[in-house]
Amino acid sequence: MSQFLSQNQLTAIADEFGTPVYIYHAEKIAEQYQKLKEAFSQQDVVIFYACKALTNVSILRYIKSIGANVDCSSINEVKLALHAGFPPEKVLYTSNGIAFEEIEEAKNLGVHINIDSLSNLEKFGKKFGHSYPVGIRLRPNILAGGNLKISTGHDKSKFGIPVDQLQMVLNCVDENNLFIRGLHIHTGSEIKEVDVFVKGIEKLFEIIPHFNELEFIDLGGGFKVPYKEGDTETDINLLAQKVKDAFASHPNPGYKPLQIWFEPGKFLVSSAGYFVTKVNVLKESGSTIFAGVNSGFNHLIRPMFYDSYHLIENISNPAGPEKAYTVVGNICETDTFATDRKINEIKEGDYLVFYNAGAYGFEMSSNFNSRLKPAEVMVKDGKAMLVRKRETFEDLLRNQVEV
Ligand code: LLP
Repeated sequence: MSQFLSQNQLTAIADEFGTPVYIYHAEKIAEQYQKLKEAFSQQDVVIFYACKALTNVSILRYIKSIGANVDCSSINEVKLALHAGFPPEKVLYTSNGIAFEEIEEAKNLGVHINIDSLSNLEKFGKKFGHSYPVGIRLRPNILAGGNLKISTGHDKSKFGIPVDQLQMVLNCVDENNLFIRGLHIHTGSEIKEVDVFVKGIEKLFEIIPHFNELEFIDLGGGFKVPYKEGDTETDINLLAQKVKDAFASHPNPGYKPLQIWFEPGKFLVSSAGYFVTKVNVLKESGSTIFAGVNSGFNHLIRPMFYDSYHLIENISNPAGPEKAYTVVGNICETDTFATDRKINEIKEGDYLVFYNAGAYGFEMSSNFNSRLKPAEVMVKDGKAMLVRKRETFEDLLRNQVEV
């Protein structure tokens, strides 16, 4: 039975902690992690949670406790992961476009590093030579992902070193006696077709023979999760089978076995998260009714930024007759969460819950319009715990220098 929080539990938490509030269900994260572990149990696969999806330290601690490693996309994420108790060998920093000083800092912290530019690779080689193993982030020139904004592996993308520059990479590795431990690719987010990963593996097969100290290949994250009825999740069991088959038909028989790394973000935390808001105002207009909630794109930007769909339910009146509502926020800009969406009849003061809010929800929130960031609550063993306080007015003034 899949783990979920009931509408009564969500209502009780909203009553206790106020709204808007992000709620994370720990056991659901564990369930998603177990799915991956079981699917890949026959293979040497390591899962690094892409923590850019959700970095709350209590969540990081929980994810550490279930055995996952962690993938970071900034030095501060690295520091948060270490702060949460991950040992450096379980921390990966997949960098993109960063200053060399940040790579040095990561090296000093002893974590794994994937370098994504020729210039940083060269600087790293000049300074550290063979003494510190690194991975190389390559751009495989594969178009994949739910939409262009979240596609990262195509031939116009800024991410990684283009595979067609392999010769330059090899020259740099040779000249600087670099210790290349891994090759990394990440093609995008919300990848449904498992063949995208197979394509990536096949690209890497052409490159792997050039590196004789390789220990892993890192296939990134991007597994799709269902957001609405009829949506499907990436078939992880099929993926595991196809990855196994791909390696079984490796063009270089007798190759050294390599560990496979994945970096899922959404897959682990998206469905574990709920965002509960309260309806401030109802406004009738022509054929629709606006339901204005006490939130906006300052708290959940995905619908406006990516046209993402989030299922919305009225947990205060779940049996009421359905009507069409346009759910909007209170930000002084157009911030439409859903247009003409069928929702059980809404009264002012009702709680509306947004599902799939665990990944890139709170994490992409801001203080736009000088509004405060919501509280975060984690539910574990049936117990709801505050894991981030709601901001206060003082937080808006903190760090301002008044002259
Ligand atoms: N690894 C790398 C190198 C990445 O760039 C990303 C995501 C991941 C792993 C994890 O991808 P995931 O498994 O979460 O799809 N904010 C957007 C998603 C942007 C993803 C950026 N990189 C959204 O809300 O849809």
